[in-house]
Amino acid sequence: MTTQTPLKFGIIGAGAIAQTHAQVFELSSQAQLIGVADIRPEAAKAMAESSRCKSYTSYQKMAEELTDLDAVIICTPPTTHPEIALYFIHRGVHVLCEKPFSIDLESAETMYEAARKNGVLLTMASKFRYVTDVIKAKSIVQSGILGDLVLFENAFTARVDMGSRWNANPVLSGGGVLIDNGTHSVDVMRYFLGPLAEIQVVEGKRIQGLAVEDTVRIFTKSTQGVVGNIDLSWSINKELDYFIRIYGSNGTISVGWKESKYRQASSQDWVVFGNGYSKVQSFLSQLDNFAQAIRGEAQLLITAEDAIASVEAINAAYESLRQNHWTSISHLSENLALRQAEASPKAQLNNKTTAPSPSHGASPSSGNGTPKSLAGAGK
Ligand SMILES: NC(=O)c1ccc[n+]([C@@H]2O[C@H](COP(=O)([O-])OP(=O)(O)OC[C@H]3O[C@@H](n4cnc5c(N)ncnc54)[C@H](O)[C@@H]3O)[C@@H](O)[C@H]2O)c1
Repeated sequence: MTTQTPLKFGIIGAGAIAQTHAQVFELSSQAQLIGVADIRPEAAKAMAESSRCKSYTSYQKMAEELTDLDAVIICTPPTTHPEIALYFIHRGVHVLCEKPFSIDLESAETMYEAARKNGVLLTMASKFRYVTDVIKAKSIVQSGILGDLVLFENAFTARVDMGSRWNANPVLSGGGVLIDNGTHSVDVMRYFLGPLAEIQVVEGKRIQGLAVEDTVRIFTKSTQGVVGNIDLSWSINKELDYFIRIYGSNGTISVGWKESKYRQASSQDWVVFGNGYSKVQSFLSQLDNFAQAIRGEAQLLITAEDAIASVEAINAAYESLRQNHWTSISHLSENLALRQAEASPKAQLNNKTTAPSPSHGASPSSGNGTPKSLAGAGK
């Protein structure tokens, strides 16, 4: 437990997901929420009241008044992410940007380069990587007890009426369920299996009559040859008790909503290793990991390169949907990671996907590591 002064944070966008981000500040000893900005004054005010902090009707006003902000969490619709992220990056403020990082690779790269030049941490919020069971599952997979990995399965399906939300407006969202839930899927698949090589997407029947897809099935393949099968929908619920299942030549592992377990082929018995998904736990681990990384006490679990890789995978997924065939995934993210590692041996530490300690979420201590995963310059 740290005795350091909590880092000062702001939230931009006081809508649905911001509620959970705000909630976990109450539980964190690493970070403190000091301001909330939203173009809807009543939303900003309500969150500021319950979080006992200041409210603003624009992020610029918040930044101008709260000059001691260390970091912000961007919780606005996707197309606004680059503009807001760049504004804070140029002010030397660290940025945790909700997924999807951005809706196009060009702006993702611009954000990346700006963060590197300004010496701030830039990362993407994608809660599933911070789930304790996901982190434990990665350790089990890495131990090799499941043998050669063959198949990765993931599903994020739930009936959600998107008709009146920005998610259904491609100008604001960049697409439908594929970019919305799919960003989590490709991030978590990369976490377990490394880089993805190619992808094919098949769209399901549009139930909600939206301008964007509401059900897709994704086939993908990692560079190591593991096949991924991912189902995403806002219109059906597959009623599965798990959200990740990985099949290996010697066993199967299942990360569930309420229980996580694995079974080796040599045994009839499942070994339970966790209690499943907790939103609060994952958001708190995410916040603490970000704060500790800012202090140079931890590696970011999701680096800016990981964020770019998710944009690359989703880009290729849409290309596949348009072309109706398998599509290669570009690997700019790996070149950036390589360049970063060459430029700074310390940064190499931050680009490793080491599994953090499940006992305290995603917070591996890296001793006196650099406080900036992207650059040497200090804030
Ligand atoms: N990690 C998750 O599990 C998860 C879940 C839901 C949403 N998200 C992501 O979080 C982001 C927000 O989604 P949401 O569901 O909370 O949306 P929302 O519509 O509920 O909230 C967005 C808020 O941003 C505000 N806003 C819009 N433009 C703004 C601007 N320029 N400046 C300040 N405020 C602005 C809106 O007024 C609104 O209050 C999206 O990127 C979404 O993909 C992540």
